Amino acid sequence: MILEIKKYPDEVLRQKSHPIDTITDEIKELASNMAETMYNAPGYGIAAPQVGVSKRLLVVDDSLGSDPARLMKIVNPVIVESSGELFEEEGCLSIPGEYELVKRFSNVTVQYTDIDGKECLIEVEGLLSRIFQHEIDHLDGHLFIDDITMLQRDRIKKSIKNRIKVGDYNVTETD
Ligand code: NI
Repeated sequence: MILEIKKYPDEVLRQKSHPIDTITDEIKELASNMAETMYNAPGYGIAAPQVGVSKRLLVVDDSLGSDPARLMKIVNPVIVESSGELFEEEGCLSIPGEYELVKRFSNVTVQYTDIDGKECLIEVEGLLSRIFQHEIDHLDGHLFIDDITMLQRDRIKKSIKNRIKVGDYNVTETD
């Protein structure tokens, strides 16, 4: 099932998500629906708060669905190591149509539980590293527009305000 993607400035995007104690059938179904929503968008990743659920769950696929084996369903991720630097353009399904250069680590090591309950450790670089950092930020109520300059942020906020005015940007809730 394709879920509704919450758009900035919906307040659910600013909440800190809760850890998942038990991977229930409900969590598994949520992860599957999030994957379907991500492919439909399309996007490289979706975090549960983006579909209105404050839980530490992500889906990630750096192939955008062209290689089914690349889909990862990630529970309770934590970045345990990071190094290097990347400075590339980034966007977000919750802030559609807006892109800015964002500074990230080029390499991160992420500890997480997979959807079958197995403890995992993965070292990623480049695009996948950026996706993980962006999506894990969502779990802490952090958006990519928080990491850019005030000038870049003002431009995005103005653009969104104008688009809301002409009805080109739909929000369900505002802060
Ligand atoms: Ni995002």
